Amino acid sequence: MSNANEKRLAGEAAIRYVEDGAIVGVGTGSTVAFFIDALADLKDRIQGAVSSSEQSTAHLKRLGIPVLDLNATGPLSLYVDGADECDPHKRLIKGGGAALTREKIVAQASQKFVCIIDSSKQVNLLGKFPLPIEVIPMARSLIGREIVKRGGNPVWRDGVVTDNGNWIIDVHGWQIADPVALETDLNQIPGIVSVGLFARRPADVVLVGDKLL
Ligand code: 5RP
Repeated sequence: MSNANEKRLAGEAAIRYVEDGAIVGVGTGSTVAFFIDALADLKDRIQGAVSSSEQSTAHLKRLGIPVLDLNATGPLSLYVDGADECDPHKRLIKGGGAALTREKIVAQASQKFVCIIDSSKQVNLLGKFPLPIEVIPMARSLIGREIVKRGGNPVWRDGVVTDNGNWIIDVHGWQIADPVALETDLNQIPGIVSVGLFARRPADVVLVGDKLL
């Protein structure tokens, strides 16, 4: 079961990675919400944030933190985000909040990815949490068939439209022994926008509550 107190501790502990004058990449979710609340106390010491979702953008703006365009900022020094699962190699499943594509973009643009989780997210093998995949709507059935060929059970997250106007398929039943290989393979299927596996670009630092993994 997820633990709100550990999420708060993790969100607050990540503040120590924020340097004066930084532009901070900001993820999405309930753990990141604690980070955004803590970041507001430093808002006069940073240039602003690059956001990974409309949800986080609204939260940042509400607290007076400037939200900047990644095309204008260039590379970022720091990205802070949560996860749905994290293995001992800091490889992640993300996308429970349907924000995986922008999260992946901001993570890729950042020198250091600090992942903030509660202990319920720690696993030895990724895949108990259904793997979110963002898809172009017209490719949903095609991609579903490709997933079945690979032994997965695809479930359309009916009614959810991502910030990019796409749909989400959650894949059940995969025990992901080689996350880099699966991410690479799925990335080749036409119509997949992005896969919620963060294995090719894992986290650099993981905070479980206020403790380092
Ligand atoms: C959103 C995500 C989130 O980081 C993930 O779902 C964890 O959320 P929370 O901090 O609420 O448990 O990947 O797309």
